[in-house]
Amino acid sequence: MCGIMGYIGGRDALPILLDGLRRLEYRGYDSAGVAVYTGERLEIRKAAGKLRRLVEMVSAAPVQGTVGIGHTRWATHGNPTDYNAHPHSDCRGHIVVIHNGIIENFLELKEELHRRGHRFQSETDTEVLAHLIEEAYEGDLERAVRHAISRARGAYAIVVLSSHEPDKLIACRQISPLIVGLGDGETWLASDIPALLPYTRKVMVIEDGEMATITRDGVRITTLNGEVVEKTPIHVTWDAEMAERGGYPHFMLKEIHEQPRALQETLMGRLDHAGQISLDGVSLPDIFVERLEKVWLVACGTAYHAGLVGKWLLEHLSRIPAEADLASELRYRDPLVFGTNLTVAISQSGETADTLAAVREMKARGSRILAITNVVGSTLTREADDVLYIRAGPEIAVASTKAYLTMLVALTMLAIELGRRRKAIPDERLNALLYGLRELPGKAQDVLRREPEVLELAKRYAHCQDIFFIGRGLDYAVAMEGSLKLKEISYVHSEALAAGELKHGTLALVTDGVPVFALCTQRHVREKMLSNIQEVKARGAMVVAVAYEDDREVASLVDHVIPIPPVDDLLSPILAIIPLQLFAYYVARERGHDIDQPRNLAKSVTVE
Ligand code: M6R
Repeated sequence: MCGIMGYIGGRDALPILLDGLRRLEYRGYDSAGVAVYTGERLEIRKAAGKLRRLVEMVSAAPVQGTVGIGHTRWATHGNPTDYNAHPHSDCRGHIVVIHNGIIENFLELKEELHRRGHRFQSETDTEVLAHLIEEAYEGDLERAVRHAISRARGAYAIVVLSSHEPDKLIACRQISPLIVGLGDGETWLASDIPALLPYTRKVMVIEDGEMATITRDGVRITTLNGEVVEKTPIHVTWDAEMAERGGYPHFMLKEIHEQPRALQETLMGRLDHAGQISLDGVSLPDIFVERLEKVWLVACGTAYHAGLVGKWLLEHLSRIPAEADLASELRYRDPLVFGTNLTVAISQSGETADTLAAVREMKARGSRILAITNVVGSTLTREADDVLYIRAGPEIAVASTKAYLTMLVALTMLAIELGRRRKAIPDERLNALLYGLRELPGKAQDVLRREPEVLELAKRYAHCQDIFFIGRGLDYAVAMEGSLKLKEISYVHSEALAAGELKHGTLALVTDGVPVFALCTQRHVREKMLSNIQEVKARGAMVVAVAYEDDREVASLVDHVIPIPPVDDLLSPILAIIPLQLFAYYVARERGHDIDQPRNLAKSVTVE
């Protein structure tokens, strides 16, 4: 939920910390702060509000030094105020701490520390760590941090800097992500890879229960008991430009436009002309595939909506029973896992706390785990037996777009491959689907050409209070994703409905002028959709349809139609969502919102 950045080297730390925080701001943006060791003492600057407030503050009162830490916050304990912003320090200002996560037993620790005379400056859970380290410090910072951590329960990624030992940063991780960037005479720390890309592509992932001691010469990783852990650095293939806005006003718009390219990347090298799909990183043995009794698709938010599409595809193409579950529900509902099961965990970041917890639960119940994710080295990849990367490139905007599309492609390939191996798909159908997949990047580009029409629609409906999305089958899953996109960045109330459910209640809300987006790409239920469109039209709704460009009948019934090129119905979600993403974007822009950083939300939800 928060972004962490650290630097030690020969350069001025402040600009590096601020640049890193800018790249991590999507993780949290209600306050930010830095601490730099000046050669004599630790200097802290922190401010509530967006990062630019901190930037203004440090321009008025700069801090100079070659080692420092920075933090961008998404509040969990204590309001977003100047004093609750990180870094937090001990009583004497010799130790500073930044933290991502939640220290669950902080109240009891705080009372204890209070009784022993510690004075607190904030309402945060984090500050107890600085005081615990202060108390335990006897000339060995590593040891003091180990002691403090042994007292804390919960999720954390923390970084500690002390004026007692200013030639190092100490970092620990339990659940919340932390990456070390390795350079020549300089070392970085960050919550996520994009923050490191301008400096290095040689990284090392700190894992749960590990401590990293970072110096100018590199990193030494140990367990919390002090045993040395040997690791090989990973080479990241993303480059710095991929994590920049590249002339677009917002990352979201850039990422929407990157989708044809991202689809190409996801497919690259994976489809061969003999009808085989090679899913690198996935090695499900034949006997396992043969015996597979159930697939569970587990995820949160947009990734869950991809899971809903995945369930449909898997059942249809491989004839294996599949269930899509919200990770935050599955983990508490005592799921029945018998026989040979596969859990497909879908997560762009690979760090979503509920998804990881659900994965652990399913693993404990005997399920094999296949991860579909974007981030190399993320926690999910280490928990999984098989990993299928979506190769979307860095996704920075909080509203997920290209990750969703590429998740759909990954799930389609998985469903086809399982279907092929179980002999559930006739050859002709298989070849048609593979052909359809290859055509998708070009067709996605065609849909993007409709942007000016979508902009006009957004201008027309931007001031509405409620907007409904309806669809049947796969279109219902797309309706849910379209509705979520709109809510999260435009703050317009919206609901998605299975079109057949309308008359069971929600139709009461459809009155004169209420916009209803009707997704009409599923040919087997098209007639039914036409009836649902008539139903809402009869109540005065303004209907916008997303339909195949050759469907003249739909076009004649509705107020506006956004045409998409004809594709196999199983592939249509990949195209049909694009105009809805653009609509959400332009409504939010018309309403003057901060599109890349919507209120109350963060890109990765690493707390439960
Ligand atoms: O990183 P993940 O895919 O696990 O994230 C899951 C959700 O938090 C995420 O999809 C969220 O719903 C997006 N902000 C939606 O645009």
